[in-house]
Amino acid sequence: MCSLRKSSSKQPNMIPESYIPPSLVKPLYVKKSLVTPSSIGNNLKLGTPTIGGKSRLLNILLKIMMFAIRKYDITGTVEAFGGGNKFITNLTPRLEYKIFNEMDWGFASIAACTTDEQMLNQMIKRAFELQFSIQTKEAFNEAKEKRRQIETPIVEAAALTIVVQAFSRAADRQNFDKQKVENGISLSYLNKYKRMHYMMKGTQVTSMDYVDAIKPFLQSENLLLYLDPPYYGTKSYEDDFPDWRHGELAELVLHSKMKIMISNFENPYYEDILENNGWHKIFLGEIPKSSAAKADEKQEEWLWTNFTIPSYLQPKKNS
Ligand SMILES: C[S@@+](CC[C@H](N)C(=O)[O-])C[C@H]1O[C@@H](n2cnc3c(N)ncnc32)[C@H](O)[C@@H]1O
Repeated sequence: MCSLRKSSSKQPNMIPESYIPPSLVKPLYVKKSLVTPSSIGNNLKLGTPTIGGKSRLLNILLKIMMFAIRKYDITGTVEAFGGGNKFITNLTPRLEYKIFNEMDWGFASIAACTTDEQMLNQMIKRAFELQFSIQTKEAFNEAKEKRRQIETPIVEAAALTIVVQAFSRAADRQNFDKQKVENGISLSYLNKYKRMHYMMKGTQVTSMDYVDAIKPFLQSENLLLYLDPPYYGTKSYEDDFPDWRHGELAELVLHSKMKIMISNFENPYYEDILENNGWHKIFLGEIPKSSAAKADEKQEEWLWTNFTIPSYLQPKKNS
């Protein structure tokens, strides 16, 4: 059975020393030939749908991650804002270490279930059953609360999260959508989670604040850290991430030895702390503006890295 380390957010910095596998600090053998471009395309649809439209930029980000893995002898990845888990599941089949963190207990629970075949089957069965008892707005609201409570067992929290996600408007996990309830959740939809197991087995899953999740790895030079924090200037996430936390994040990773990628909207913190200290910034693409009055309003998403990205991997603006 897999275990999921719960957040110690009320008692920060509670990570025991033993949490850092000693081998993380030295280079390990990676079967790089297995991390091929074709392994990206085959699995592009894995992961739970989430708000934000990140899937549009997924292909670009995956190619940049692949480049970094090959060029810098990367032996493992750390994802600190894991959400619907679209990166580890689509990228790194043979990396030695995979660490997935997500503050939201329900999403972390889905990730934990996909690491273990038995729990994965239980999660699928339970999500299929649960949908028939989450048919009203009241039941939906109750499920919405319960899926995020760390007292809720992992399989239950995962199954509730899948149902809440599927029955909410635009996958926002907030607003009940009666039409989606009527459509229901098919077993074939749920079975797609089985395809995540191959990538997720061996992944260490945690559910805690990103600071606690990444601190143990800051000096590990063979790791690739991907940070996809809530968007600067927005409030669409259940866990509050005020703008000042982008400054905290930039300070925390500025001198880290990991290879780091951070995606977000342009903001003064990344400009002052990262760009002014030699980090690179490239345009990634446009995503739908969540607060937009008009459906076609877009916002630019950018990527900051502490390594150079060759121009052939950089999307061209206005192309
Ligand atoms: C932009 S989303 C990440 C989407 C993800 N990359 C994916 O593929 O679905 C940001 C995520 O950060 C999580 N989050 C918010 N505050 C956090 C914190 N303090 N520490 C860790 N995760 C947090 C949110 O729950 C949300 O899932």
